[in-house]
Amino acid sequence: MLDKVKELLGEVSAFQSASKEEVEAFRIKYLGSKGLLKNLFAEFKNVDAELRKDFGQALNNLKKAAEQKVASLNEALENAQEETGVYGDLTRPAEPIQLGSRHPISLVKNQIIDVFNRIGFTVSEGPEVEDDWHNFTALNLPEYHPARDMQDTFFIEKSQDVAKDTLLRTHTSSVQVRYMENNKPPIRTISPGRVFRNEDISARSHCIFHQVEGLYIDTDVSFADLKQTLLYFTKEMFGKSKIRLRPSYFPFTEPSAEVDIYWGLETETDYRITKGTGWLEIMGCGMVDPNVLENCNIDSSTYSGYAFGMGIERIAMLLYQIPDIRMFYENDVRFLEQFKSVL
Ligand code: DAH
Repeated sequence: MLDKVKELLGEVSAFQSASKEEVEAFRIKYLGSKGLLKNLFAEFKNVDAELRKDFGQALNNLKKAAEQKVASLNEALENAQEETGVYGDLTRPAEPIQLGSRHPISLVKNQIIDVFNRIGFTVSEGPEVEDDWHNFTALNLPEYHPARDMQDTFFIEKSQDVAKDTLLRTHTSSVQVRYMENNKPPIRTISPGRVFRNEDISARSHCIFHQVEGLYIDTDVSFADLKQTLLYFTKEMFGKSKIRLRPSYFPFTEPSAEVDIYWGLETETDYRITKGTGWLEIMGCGMVDPNVLENCNIDSSTYSGYAFGMGIERIAMLLYQIPDIRMFYENDVRFLEQFKSVL
């Protein structure tokens, strides 16, 4: 009897399998309710009294060995399943992936680009560190033109001879000049980018912000073309199609205008942001001054065109009801996270 138990112990410790079914069959064979151990324990009463102690011990050892074997083989099976990854439990929920979000300035910039792409405008860019020619002089702002006072500039190098000045561009209109110098009409381009002005920082203005400049040059371009383009833009961007053009002055356009859209007076915020008028200014525009065309070697007797410029922050503040421009540059995740769902 004792020999039989010892033989079984040998079998148990030698048993190996990587199959769930085989391990289960092994468990039933040894530990099941009609298994070998059950039968052997039932034989206990037939064993001679002096052998019972040894027999009992041997049976307990066999039982323990069988239990341990089953437990360790099952554990190995489970680990193997985890390692195979996709072949594991396919119904298990996926690991959550931490999603980032686009910055609201990028969201609005991309939206503007998208609207103008659809009517044939390409995207162009220029340097943030500019020279005097591209930022001022070519845009019809000669050295002592009073309009230069409109923009307080960060100069990098300032000399007696303005032609040698370098500065941080004060508007993306500088890209117009670069584009016209390097491309022949017809021209349809928009230029998004960062601009810099020596201004006090407050809830409404900052020394760094973003603009999108637009430029359209061809034969027979009229103010009516400009107005239609602006109508299309405001409709696509804001879903609003009532605009008005107020006469204004920019040195690089003649005539010039400021564009207001009718925002409405439905909510208290509408009252606040439109100062109770319902109208909201969103950009400057005009017909490109012939002097600017000539400065860029474009024949102003053949070609004409329009230009416009708008601030991205201002539009983002309107669209997302952002009360303070400084929020754009603080990188507070509590602010940025709110744009996760926007593409
Ligand atoms: N450069 C102007 C600014 O920074 C915006 C602007 C106004 C651009 C009229 C234009 C324009 O192209 O035609 O305030």
